[in-house]
Amino acid sequence: ETATSSRKRDHLQICCEQPVEAGNAGFGDVRLVHNALPECDMDAIETKTRFLDRALGSPLFIAAMTGGHPDTLEVNRRLARAAERYNLGMGVGSQRAALEKPELEGSFTVVREEAPHAFLCANLGIIQLRDHGIEWAERAVEMIDAQAIAIHVNSLQEAIQPEGDHNAEGCIEALRDLCKEFSYPVIVKETGSGISAGTARVIRGAGASAIDIGGYGGTSWAKIERLRASGSELADLGEAFLSWGIPTVVSLREVRTAGGPIIATGGLRSGIDIAKAVALGADLGGMALPLLKPAMESDDALSLAVEAMHRELRVAMFLTGSRSIADLRHARTYITGLTRQMIENSD
Ligand code: FNR
Repeated sequence: ETATSSRKRDHLQICCEQPVEAGNAGFGDVRLVHNALPECDMDAIETKTRFLDRALGSPLFIAAMTGGHPDTLEVNRRLARAAERYNLGMGVGSQRAALEKPELEGSFTVVREEAPHAFLCANLGIIQLRDHGIEWAERAVEMIDAQAIAIHVNSLQEAIQPEGDHNAEGCIEALRDLCKEFSYPVIVKETGSGISAGTARVIRGAGASAIDIGGYGGTSWAKIERLRASGSELADLGEAFLSWGIPTVVSLREVRTAGGPIIATGGLRSGIDIAKAVALGADLGGMALPLLKPAMESDDALSLAVEAMHRELRVAMFLTGSRSIADLRHARTYITGLTRQMIENSD
């Protein structure tokens, strides 16, 4: 197996067995304003929505997680079955390992086999894009017959992981070239440190179709890499950066100033968080860790988790008088605490 491939397996194992979350995404500081007279029928509420010209069953997006090691195949199979069953959008994990070694493609191709109709997002790191160009992006999309590609940015992880790439020069140009030439929508995605208003403008200026916030406050790569490197000086480095990043709610407020579709990911832990994210300007709410654990267990466990999220989303919609996701976008929120301070005090 390759280094990339075995790293994928390490990550899944650590995420399932150890505490890998850090900080606060800000959802605890957000309240949806209650509507005591909602004048709608909860059972008639529509959670369906649209994203990049596709109809989806709900704003719950299955965030990029895995693939590239044979042990990840069953997890991807279950995630894909849930995507197909509930008509959810789904991102696969970084396809780098399978682009390096095509015999590892099976854990990715299973996703399209199990989800023939789902909105699927290919995934490639911006460093791999810079180094291998549009050809790898094309192969990544073709591998799973994807509708879009997510280019992930993860400078924090690159900086603290033993095999990380420390040179981020040339990435913006590579992104601009891809957006100009590629025939599929490009989504730029962080993986836990969030995106600022300025970075969002750069991304939109490069021509990307959408932004996935990947904010601080959920799964922490500083924490995962600290656990992987335990005992070494890189573990101390991971420790020092445990609180680095823009919390998802704060990042959402920043990114929406740049316009364009948004996926809010990072620390969403309930259907209420999805409702809050939509009210704050997101088009979809992405979840990784909360779906990974049930997906490691069984199809039934994953279905139960998805249905619980949908139930909470529906009740939150009812209690804000929102008959549709379009209505929910206009729901009012109160923002308090550290989240409010960060929003008001940025300079
Ligand atoms: C991830 N994430 C991720 N993102 C990405 O763009 N490419 C990838 O390969 C991976 N791999 C990956 C593996 C595992 C095990 C996890 C838990 C996560 C990041 C993910 O898509 C998401 O942005 C963050 O995990 C934040 O969301 P949660 O976990 O707080 O809901």
